[in-house]
Amino acid sequence: MKRKGKLFVVPFLMAFMLVAVGCEDKYVAKGHKAYSRYCAPCHGDTGNGSGYNAKNMDPVPRDLTDGDEDYMAKLSNDEIFEVLQLGGYGVDLSGGMPVWGKVFSEEELWSLVAYVRTLHPNEENEIVFTKPDSKEALFNTKRVRYPMVREQKFDELLESLAPDEEAFDEQVAVGEEIYAEVGCNACHRVNGEGGTLGPNLSAAGFMLQPQFIFRWIMNPQSFVPKTRMPNLDLNEADALAISLYVSTLKEASLQNEVLQEDGDAEDGDAEAGGV
Ligand code: HEC
Ligand code: HEC
Repeated sequence: MKRKGKLFVVPFLMAFMLVAVGCEDKYVAKGHKAYSRYCAPCHGDTGNGSGYNAKNMDPVPRDLTDGDEDYMAKLSNDEIFEVLQLGGYGVDLSGGMPVWGKVFSEEELWSLVAYVRTLHPNEENEIVFTKPDSKEALFNTKRVRYPMVREQKFDELLESLAPDEEAFDEQVAVGEEIYAEVGCNACHRVNGEGGTLGPNLSAAGFMLQPQFIFRWIMNPQSFVPKTRMPNLDLNEADALAISLYVSTLKEASLQNEVLQEDGDAEDGDAEAGGV
């Protein structure tokens, strides 16, 4: 009798666990998956801020686990949503925290908030994703697809904003400033400074046309849908200035740095995971 009893209990328990995991954590699991690919390079796998890209950053990525202080615990769900949607630059924090509002759907953003909430103790309400007693989603589940920027757009802007050499040089100087403000340097290295999540741009001017750089940074997902480079929601004038600046980067002695960074790049691929 005893033995038989145990055999009955085990499948019951397993079924119960599957149901519990299946319902409760669906959105948290979705958020976790996106986090591993898009956020972990900076915030670390455990959320403590120790991603491989963090060592190149100032300020450093937030410790989402509240290891040393109660910081995340004091933020509301809405505040976390807002910083994901608008980026650090959009809420008067550092541009090193990218903008994600033009990459993910509303539901994916809330799933990320739900996952981030599991990383630190907090007393906020659980996020509700569906209407009570139905499966109807409360948030928009579709990603918005923005059209690829037209080639002519660049030529038009160049003509109006940088018609002569002097204006061009001014645009390059402005571009260098905005490049840092909006956080390009969080992921890209130029002349020995900046992150390694994206390729080193020190010699980008040899390889990339400003027109392509402009169209890429305005909408990376229109070229590579699953790229880890976010659409930073740049306005056209800023994007033009940045693209002219990047097209002037022609560091000749890049070779040493590339060799040195190979290790980092491999870390990155290993940690990035699928999706
Ligand atoms: C390129 C590195 C980088 C990536 C990628 C990144 N973050 Fe951040 N994040 C930062 C930095 C830097 C800060 C600190 C900004 C500050 O305090 O000025 C930050 C801050 C935050 C904060 C705290 C905001 C606040 O109000 O203080 C949250 C929450 C957060 N990130 C979540 C995420 C999530 C979720 C993702 C992925 C979708 C992500 N981050 C991707 C660098 C990054
Ligand atoms: C969160 C990290 C991140 C941020 C922020 C970021 N990038 Fe990127 N960038 C990447 C990654 C990753 C790639 C590689 C893209 C791929 O192939 O999927 C990339 C690629 C590029 C490329 C090369 C495209 C090519 O096809 O060779 C350029 C140029 C570039 N980024 C410029 C910028 C500029 C300028 C900014 C700021 C407006 C910026 N990036 C912000 C991560 C980032």
